[in-house]
Amino acid sequence: MIGIIGAMQLETTAISEVLTEKQRCEYAGMTFLSGKLNGIDVVVSTCGPGKVFAAVCAQTMILKFHPEYLINIGVGGAISPSLHVTDLAVATSTVQHDMDTSPLGDPKGMISQINRIHLPCDPALIQAARDAMADLGLKGEFGVIATGDQFVDSVELKSTLQSRFGAIACDMEGGAIGHVCFINQVPYIVLRAISDNAEDGAPVSFETFAVSAAAQSVKLLTCMLKKL
Ligand code: ADE
Repeated sequence: MIGIIGAMQLETTAISEVLTEKQRCEYAGMTFLSGKLNGIDVVVSTCGPGKVFAAVCAQTMILKFHPEYLINIGVGGAISPSLHVTDLAVATSTVQHDMDTSPLGDPKGMISQINRIHLPCDPALIQAARDAMADLGLKGEFGVIATGDQFVDSVELKSTLQSRFGAIACDMEGGAIGHVCFINQVPYIVLRAISDNAEDGAPVSFETFAVSAAAQSVKLLTCMLKKL
């Protein structure tokens, strides 16, 4: 069983629609749709925006469906200057950029208790994503995805995410799913396609390109699953 999580319907519909042998159940107001995708057992859920929804969804999936690994798909904002709308940003690790216990002496982004900033993605999943991107001839980058409970639309925050964490892209769920996967020892990866440049004009770009960008992340996921 493979768990697939997207924050918005527009990020998950294309997968949900092609599932066969569908079974639906609900926990915490979220729908979990299980079935087969090209013969592979998967469970798909649309969690809602932000870290809390994402964490609840990931933990529920792990406890109720026991997935071998979790894949977070969807759209993100570009931090790397070489990423453009509909390009792919694949996480090698995630960070929670709004986690801040620095007044207590920790570095910014440090998750106390587990004492780490970076939540590493699974090497086999990263390799499968590299192979799928090469096969499909899709353009993109691999690196750190920075997660926080905010839609990033300023040059200042963008450059902080780049200089502090080495981020290539930002989102609002990946690092929460990474956190849940880390404490449950479940391998995970985040596949994002760029909908905006996370600065001036980002909300309009997001509205315009979210659907076409989301389709790219689904394309990558579908090809990747065949390699696992
Ligand atoms: N998802 C898509 N674009 C984003 C942005 N600019 N900030 C956070 N999450 C996003």
